[in-house]
Amino acid sequence: YPELGQDLVRVVVSEEDIQRRLAEIAAQIDEDYAGSELLLVGVLKGAAFVMSDLMRHLHGDVAMDWMAVSSYGAGTQSSGVVRILKDLDTDLTGRHVLIVEDIIDSGLTLSWLLSNLRSRGPASLEVATLLRKPDAAKVQVDVRYLGFDVANEFVVGYGLDYAERYRQLPFVAVLAPHVYGG
Ligand code: PRP
Ligand code: MN
Ligand code: MG
Repeated sequence: YPELGQDLVRVVVSEEDIQRRLAEIAAQIDEDYAGSELLLVGVLKGAAFVMSDLMRHLHGDVAMDWMAVSSYGAGTQSSGVVRILKDLDTDLTGRHVLIVEDIIDSGLTLSWLLSNLRSRGPASLEVATLLRKPDAAKVQVDVRYLGFDVANEFVVGYGLDYAERYRQLPFVAVLAPHVYGG
């Protein structure tokens, strides 16, 4: 990545590790939801890559829907103010729902989303996330499927952006402080 490489400090999760872990998680999901219909709910925009790669590994009866929420805007700090930018098309009543996220940082987005979706009467509601930052947690969120815990550094790639950039990287890397004036 000649144009982006100078903005990155180091790779924290490689492309190979991401893909291997998503395949393992998918096998676990297939086992856990065997015989039932599963609805994956992706959280735009960051989860688009996890959703796409995870879902390709699933062999059971699975559908997907999307919600767009945003708590970061263009900054590097979570505001805690979650806005719905696009709601689901699907009625969750009686459905087995698995939220798909790229990262849990403060946990504010997901804890808000969990209570929002729980109020819609799903048969079950669980969370899958590729990344989690335990040291950044402001609220505790129960995660059923976790890819990797990462340190509390500003990371980008594989869906994670800074001001909408860097999402396309196939790996997760630490963003150089000079990019965001840190
Ligand atoms: C990011 C990330 C998670 C959320 C995690 O989304 O994709 O959805 O923040 O942060 P939190 O645990 O502190 O709430 P963002 O709001 O940046 O929107 P995006 O997915 O469109 O980038
Ligand atoms: Mn997001
Ligand atoms: Mg973002």
